[in-house]
Amino acid sequence: MTVRPTRLLVTGAAGFIGTNFVRHALAAGIDRLVALDLLTYAGNYANLADLEADARFRFVRLDVAARADVARLVVEERIEAIVHCAAETHVDRSIGDHTPFLRTNVDGTIALLEAVRGQAGFRCFLHVSTDEVYGSIAEGRAREDWPTRPSSPYAASKAAADGFVQAYATTHGVPAVITRCSNNYGPYQFPEKVIPLFVTNALDGQPLPLYGDGMNVRDWIHVEDHVEALWHVLGLGETDGRVYNVSAENEVPNRTVTDRILALLGRPATLVRYVADRPGHDRRYALESARLRATGWRPRRSFDEGLAATVDWYRDQRPWWEAVKSGAYRDYYERMYASRLRAGRDMP
Ligand code: NAD
Ligand code: DAU
Repeated sequence: MTVRPTRLLVTGAAGFIGTNFVRHALAAGIDRLVALDLLTYAGNYANLADLEADARFRFVRLDVAARADVARLVVEERIEAIVHCAAETHVDRSIGDHTPFLRTNVDGTIALLEAVRGQAGFRCFLHVSTDEVYGSIAEGRAREDWPTRPSSPYAASKAAADGFVQAYATTHGVPAVITRCSNNYGPYQFPEKVIPLFVTNALDGQPLPLYGDGMNVRDWIHVEDHVEALWHVLGLGETDGRVYNVSAENEVPNRTVTDRILALLGRPATLVRYVADRPGHDRRYALESARLRATGWRPRRSFDEGLAATVDWYRDQRPWWEAVKSGAYRDYYERMYASRLRAGRDMP
């Protein structure tokens, strides 16, 4: 049986999935956890502040693309495995300006791979990727051996990063594995993504800007099921650059997600506003996760219970999201939505 690495570096640790993973790994008994994050608009130190009391935990504010600093940290902390979550992650932002996506998602990933290349004692580079690399799925569910067909600059940057991880595994023998997960929801998600955006807008009686005809389909998984999958994959010891899809195989049209949120909050359907679509908007995501399930992982939360718990979390954590939705977020929201909301239409 493979023994799970005990000294971890988690990048993007102050973001949505990073925060949930860090908390999971500490609760599961990891010996040492170094949490790295640049604290961009999406990173929130408050998510991790209470963990400073734990002697196993250390937070380092650093850019993943800062090669020399990252390499020094890996050596100094005798890092055995990296769970690489740091990224620019919002599709809409990547349409406006791809440059931070190229730098963080591609150059940042290469900087980390360079830092661990040839390091004795280094055991696993777990690259946290996305189902978006497969592009829109007209029929069936994407398997790991499907070609990548990214539609957005975000997805293109993630597909490029996946390629570098596989190239470093093949050419330089870096022990690596890639996970491609479907859409996550749950606590600590930045309210630019549709579920926390719609929940917090509905709580404030603000319109919910639904793109296009509202019938695009996403394959939803609770973030805790995703981080359990990451923890599980770390324990498999499979590091030949292979890919594992991570999915609850739960496809739901956006309109249905919106209706459920409104029902859970007891808010009217008149809050929904149909707005101009996202350019290049992938119609449907659907992942097959049989390869990972064959190794013993299973998602444990149904969408109904997970969504209800998530809505409760945002209802209870108003100070958390009000702080996040202030300042630069207001400018972003204005830029992204003001004219679309004015030109949008109410429910047919
Ligand atoms: P997020 O935007 O909430 O968090 C990203 C984190 O990375 C932030 O804390 C940010 O400060 C940090 N970061 C950005 N640039 C950095 C840099 N140059 N150096 C160091 N830190 C930097 O994103 P998330 O939803 O938590 O996604 C984490 C990872 O999971 C990403 O790689 C994403 O592609 C992948 N993923 C996300 C989903 C999803 O539904 N959220 C699904 C599949 C895969
Ligand atoms: O599939 C995994 C991906 O899921 C991750 O790799 C990305 O990092 C993550 O952002 C997410 O991408 P999506 O583009 O699917 O997520 P988003 O929350 O932006 O949108 C989900 C769906 O909701 C999508 O069909 C677009 C729609 N939407 C989104 C927003 C922000 C709206 O209708 N209105 C909105 O205001």
